[in-house]
Amino acid sequence: MPDTSQKRHSALAEAIRRHDRAYYVEAQPTISDREYDQLYRELLNLEADHPELRTPDSPSQRVGGEPIDGFETVRHAVPMMSLDNTYSQEEVREFVERVQKLLPGEPLDWVVEPKADGIAISLRYEDGQFTIGATRGDGVAGDDVTANLRTIRSVPLRLQPLGQALGQAETPEVFEARGEVIMTRSGFEKLNQAREAEGEPLFANPRNATAGSLKQLDPTLVAKRPLDIVLYGNGEVVGGSAVDSQLGLFDTLGQLGFRTPEHTWHCKSAEEILAAIEELDRIRNGFDYDTDGAVIKLNRFDLRDRVGATAKAPRWAMAYKYAPEQAQTRLHAITIQVGRTGTLTPVAELEPVFVDGSTISRATLHNEEEIGRKDIRIGDTVIIEKRGDVIPGVISVVKDLRPAGTEPFDMLAATGSQCPECGGAIHKDEEFVAWRCVNTDCPAQAAQRLEHFAARTALDIDCLGDIVSDKLVERQLAVNPLDLFGLTVEQLGPLNLGTDDEPRMFGEKNATKLVDSVERARTMGLDRWLFALAIPEMGRTIAGSLAKFHDDLPAVAASSLLRDVIALEEKVAETVRINPRSRNNRPKSDADKAKREQQYASLVSEIRGTLDDLVALGFAKISKENGDHPPNYTTEVGPSAARSVLGWFESDTGRATLERLAKLGINPRGGRPGGGGVFDGKSFVITGTLPTMSRDEAKAKIEANGGKTAGSVSKKTDYLLAGEKAGSKLTKAESLGIAILDETKFLEMCGG
Ligand code: IVH
Repeated sequence: MPDTSQKRHSALAEAIRRHDRAYYVEAQPTISDREYDQLYRELLNLEADHPELRTPDSPSQRVGGEPIDGFETVRHAVPMMSLDNTYSQEEVREFVERVQKLLPGEPLDWVVEPKADGIAISLRYEDGQFTIGATRGDGVAGDDVTANLRTIRSVPLRLQPLGQALGQAETPEVFEARGEVIMTRSGFEKLNQAREAEGEPLFANPRNATAGSLKQLDPTLVAKRPLDIVLYGNGEVVGGSAVDSQLGLFDTLGQLGFRTPEHTWHCKSAEEILAAIEELDRIRNGFDYDTDGAVIKLNRFDLRDRVGATAKAPRWAMAYKYAPEQAQTRLHAITIQVGRTGTLTPVAELEPVFVDGSTISRATLHNEEEIGRKDIRIGDTVIIEKRGDVIPGVISVVKDLRPAGTEPFDMLAATGSQCPECGGAIHKDEEFVAWRCVNTDCPAQAAQRLEHFAARTALDIDCLGDIVSDKLVERQLAVNPLDLFGLTVEQLGPLNLGTDDEPRMFGEKNATKLVDSVERARTMGLDRWLFALAIPEMGRTIAGSLAKFHDDLPAVAASSLLRDVIALEEKVAETVRINPRSRNNRPKSDADKAKREQQYASLVSEIRGTLDDLVALGFAKISKENGDHPPNYTTEVGPSAARSVLGWFESDTGRATLERLAKLGINPRGGRPGGGGVFDGKSFVITGTLPTMSRDEAKAKIEANGGKTAGSVSKKTDYLLAGEKAGSKLTKAESLGIAILDETKFLEMCGG
């Protein structure tokens, strides 16, 4: 390679890094997008001619690498702690006093910073090269999300040397920068608009969108997400001139090429801290990312060491959280939404108001009782609140502004005793606060069930959001989620998601994605299926527990564990009733007392027996022994959910579902690892392109047979499943003498 190519490459790479910094870190671009593109294209061309120039820290290498199967766990060199929180100014003063008491006579200074509302991460650099990026996880170890973090342009792939301004240049041997991955508000809005158009589920807020993006297994998809990063801390540091304060750290972070918070305050007293917190609250709406508070930190690191930390948080820092923003507006109407289990939820239709960075025009009213308790009426002026993750809610009514002639809300009057979607009968169960539409063919319920079935945490079916679900039900293409298994690209492609005047076709590409992911759902695990079927009271946790303890759906339907849970509850209730020392039901005679004592003891021993069995299986835990009385206990699934689940499997819907699944040849598998699968306890790595299966299908098969998959080959790997174009993983597996399977052999082993 001519020396000039090498030189030109270094110059281009350096220029691109400089422009990336100017654009993404300093927000002060110095050249036009076109000029930048030209430099970038020239770099790519050079690397195409001389592949050896394509080093890992080249700006061209932000997105590379193949999708992975799961994240490796990384132990943090220094634990990532969290912060103590407060909403109270008084507690901020107390915090300052507390620290001062621990450091008597020391003049203290503080730094106040914005608390970015994102996902905490750690970036590790060795000899200036970005090596590992990890999420916080439990603070001790997190997920290795390096490939995803590389796609973020404000994450330098290589550090700038320190001390350049002084004419020296040094790079720390190890430098861990810590901060927050965030999504800009404008990027978030655009992302959700695009998702809506594609019929994909929307993210609730930028923080959830960030978390979802970092969890993506395919970095090329992450590269399309508008992520950014702000750094405010450090983990392990070796070499380089020592950093001894927070202000010094910000200076170092800046020199190394990192983006740091928009604004920080240097304070000398509690009063100055409180003033800074107030000023931050006034300006934070102008930031391009969400903040939910201020972080107050002792500036000097030597003093931090002296005050130390509790088990989970440092004593030298504190987060002050801003109260969720409230606004006053008018309630125009109360509409009724029908959920997937038929629950009727009243929704407040509001005069649009701007709260905490977005416009709110609807808020949940939860249920009729809640409306009664707060006496919310149509025409009222109400106070609404937006708090982090949750849907905005109505807090209270400004009674002084109530117009004349309003009436208390009444569900039967509001709905005319009919489901607003299907006109069917509505009913209020005594044990629940909610009204429900009892018509299981209600199209609103059907559409919601489809959407739920397709959710990422359920069977993860692409391109099936609310709009597409509504259309599929309206056109009677899929009314029951299992109807999805008969749909073809030819049927779905021409589906008009718009109106007759303004048609908007679903399109072949989306249709193919949908059909492919429906196929993939066939091999998904029992936990996902249980959750996807919209069984009342079946949340993800319960689905996960049930899947651990049962092999398949028929086993759940016939579950003796669930029957035991119900029987236990009934028997405990019976002990309360017949307790010979009961005050409400005293024995009538000595003979009666003796008889009851005997009955009581035998009931307790029956309870004990069942409970011991459940405890041995790991399905129940005893929380307190009570001598001759039944112990206090908890079960993996409670009695109410147990009744609901068994009831559903016995219902017409449940029976029909099992029959149809059997006809479709779908039999989602659960059970514990070690439950007799051919791959029990074996670890797989998948590489290359398999001839007939997707990676997800292969992964599902491995898991269904008791195995696990990992992202990279190590001594612990038992099998490498290799397809076409297998690369470095194959070489490594060969060198370690690991068994290599092709698809045919693999399928043979799992029995087809
Ligand atoms: S310092 C040991 N500074 O807030 C101190 N955290 O509630 C570690 N956060 O886990 C954190 N902005 O994810 C710090 N300027 C800031 C922050 C910040 C946001 C997050 C961080 C942390 C959480 C604690």
